[in-house]
Amino acid sequence: MNHEIVEKNLGLMIILIILTISGGFLVEIVPLFFLKETNEPVEGLKPYTALQLEGRDIYIREGCHVCHTQQIRPFRAETERYGHYSVAGEFVYDRPFLWGSKRTGPDLARVGGRYSDAWQRQHLFDPRSVVPESNMPAFPWLFENKVDHTQTAAKMETLQTLGVPYSDEEIANGPAEVEGKFEIEALVAYLQHLGTVISDKR
Ligand code: HEC
Repeated sequence: MNHEIVEKNLGLMIILIILTISGGFLVEIVPLFFLKETNEPVEGLKPYTALQLEGRDIYIREGCHVCHTQQIRPFRAETERYGHYSVAGEFVYDRPFLWGSKRTGPDLARVGGRYSDAWQRQHLFDPRSVVPESNMPAFPWLFENKVDHTQTAAKMETLQTLGVPYSDEEIANGPAEVEGKFEIEALVAYLQHLGTVISDKR
């Protein structure tokens, strides 16, 4: 009984398990590192501006990604509602990515441009003033806090090290771009940019 030999011999079983997992890794995961589709930016994708980048950090800080996904699946029900399904090349500058897995609220992958800035601000200040049945929390402090510009350049530099094509000039100008801005301005700049790179190719 070959099976019995494997089950009674721990060393052999460990080696066979490692071989099986490595085989799976080679076939399923390794090709993704070399596929253009998964590691190259889609045409027209630009790194976040300093203001959008700070907005993204506020989005993470406030836990928006806990209730909202940023990932439209390639199913009709999703594309009819949200627009073109998400593709990997849209997220190559996202570190960390914010795909999420829980939709208490709608997917936001293509929310950019769907509403006016004024709507976004009003909605974040008091969601029920524009969507009466909403159970989204209000975020009034975003209208009082100024963006912390002291870390902006360091954040951009780190992303540059990781391969995001920021120029040294953009990094140097980053802090000035966000200094004195309210957090709400940064967050709305980020939201309005979401998914706009390929939304028109529906
Ligand atoms: C507790 C869960 C929850 C959290 C946290 C949350 N939201 Fe929401 N969000 C919702 C729900 C539910 C809706 C749908 C009702 C509405 O439009 O208010 C919604 C709707 C939205 C919409 C409108 C989307 C559309 O297509 O109509 C935007 C934009 C949005 N949220 C942004 C944010 C941002 C930005 C944050 C973080 C600052 C955030 N949300 C945090 C639950 C949440």
